[in-house]
Amino acid sequence: MCGIVGYVGRQKAAPILIEGLKRLEYRGYDSAGLAVLQGPRIEVVKKTGRVDVLAKAAAPRRLAGATGIGHTRWATHGGVTEANAHPHLSSDGSFALVHNGVIENHAAIRRFLAAKGYTFASETDTEALVNLIAYHHAKEPEPAPDTGKSRFLESVRRALMHVEGAYGIAVLCAACPGEIVAARKASPLVLGVGDREHLLASDVAALASRTQNVVYLKDGELLHLTPGRFAIITQDEEDVPPVVDRITWDTAGAELGDHRHFMEKEIFEQPAALENAMRGRFSEDGSTANFGGLNLTPAELRQVGRLVLLGCGTAWHACLVAEHLVERFARLPVEVDYASEFRYRNTPLDRDTLFFVMSQSGETIDTLGALREARRKGFKVLAINNTVGSSIAREADGGIYQHVGPEIGVASTKAFTSQLLLGAIIALYIARMRDMSYNDGLEYVKALKAAPGLVRRVLAQAPRIREIARRHAHYKDMLFLGRLSLFPIALEGALKLKEISYIHAEGYPAAEMKHGPIALVSPECPAVFFAPKGEIFNKLVSSIQEIKARRGRTIVITTEGCELPPGVADELIHLPDCHEAVLPIVATIPVQLLSYYIAVELGCDVDKPRNLAKSVTVE
Ligand code: G6P
Repeated sequence: MCGIVGYVGRQKAAPILIEGLKRLEYRGYDSAGLAVLQGPRIEVVKKTGRVDVLAKAAAPRRLAGATGIGHTRWATHGGVTEANAHPHLSSDGSFALVHNGVIENHAAIRRFLAAKGYTFASETDTEALVNLIAYHHAKEPEPAPDTGKSRFLESVRRALMHVEGAYGIAVLCAACPGEIVAARKASPLVLGVGDREHLLASDVAALASRTQNVVYLKDGELLHLTPGRFAIITQDEEDVPPVVDRITWDTAGAELGDHRHFMEKEIFEQPAALENAMRGRFSEDGSTANFGGLNLTPAELRQVGRLVLLGCGTAWHACLVAEHLVERFARLPVEVDYASEFRYRNTPLDRDTLFFVMSQSGETIDTLGALREARRKGFKVLAINNTVGSSIAREADGGIYQHVGPEIGVASTKAFTSQLLLGAIIALYIARMRDMSYNDGLEYVKALKAAPGLVRRVLAQAPRIREIARRHAHYKDMLFLGRLSLFPIALEGALKLKEISYIHAEGYPAAEMKHGPIALVSPECPAVFFAPKGEIFNKLVSSIQEIKARRGRTIVITTEGCELPPGVADELIHLPDCHEAVLPIVATIPVQLLSYYIAVELGCDVDKPRNLAKSVTVE
């Protein structure tokens, strides 16, 4: 994972790097560091912990240099120590490097270099690469001035020819003032083109306050930067004409405002986020959907015999809900798989299969790998994605943007509900090409348009849910139970709780409880139970009674107006009555709030839970 930044220009680099790193902290926060060129020396400051700790350590160093690189780490190779923090220096101190990704053949490179006298101060894979660059630089002759070639760039290019794995890197060379070399393969990297300055980052969020003009690097490309010029080449030394994109990034969306945590802000933003995600998505007559970017004609879509939906983590839960809705309303078979499993499983696939990948960040390496595998086999892959210009957005055959703005809290909230909404709209779109009538389409669209208002009504119960959370924060285990489209929401509720409060939680289909998890039921293990109105309401009530019979505590989430037998619910949360396609969205809100308030009650670092990162760019 990790986030990397770089700056070359006329300003002091250190504060700009620190500002950028703060925006990238969601990618990892085990340690942070920066390196700045100070005359002929590379000065490095690094600290375990957050970017704030780094900022305090860097302040007294009075770093005035205008060229620098920075890093925020999510540990892969080597523990969370200062020695393992980036940037890493080559053993002679002549190069500094920050890296996002994994160098898979680092052990072999290390052995090769150790035999030549290079030394290593960390346990990281990265240190092998910075020394390999130093090794090639020492061998590389200075090019003749008229060739316009850079020895620095050439050394990096040659070193990378021997590297297996994934990388986004930025490199400083003590002998090259005012220069940075960067490269990417399977890890994202964006160049920001400013006014006589250039910036680099893993994500546009870190650049947006200084420039709107960006160039997304592609796999296998290298970049050479000076304050006034940039050049991109391929591994085969071909010049790449740059495509400068203009970003419309709302930096206000990445500010906390009056909220205590980004997660709280993003939970309460959901009505607006849903409105943004559905804007322009319905046909003029209001009976079906409207997608501009699928790059498939209705006739082509009509030929699809099966959907395969892929994602990781929370996005995988959104795929499960979409499966339910597409099968229920469009009567089209759907398979859902973890992207990481699909990639290596080699599933037999019919020719008429269409793929969707879901990813908030658009950078999850497992999802990107699955997308590539499906495309390699000749299938079309569409993406549901929140990050414009992300790797997944660019490599997919088409797709749908979520349009919910930056999501900063590591635990996904508004991105998830917007994925649920888009899954529901896809179900409608396909259903209306098949069996769904015009009138049912009108009703479905009307129901989806009501979703933001319904979510607002659930959010209004936040003070009550906070009280429930206070009463349950001391438990060590919790069950989340639901059926049909709310089974994935039970999984999501359990995931949210584990992620941010470190309470052990399991999500289960409610009727499966009796086949195992009921053994956990006791006064010490409360169960959050979805029991909405519907055909199986009575069966759900029976399952709750089985818990009560074993002295379990129950938090029941049901529909307004539903009568529960007395004594069945220790705590009760009401959902407004709504259409089946909207129910998963509305039902998500109480479990988000419950997890959030429990984590706050326990004093947990809600936005940056331990061991996690928002965008997982390693396998
Ligand atoms: C990480 C995050 C999860 C997220 C998952 C998929 O594990 O911690 O919150 O659901 O990645 O992320 P994506 O960006 O692909 O939706």
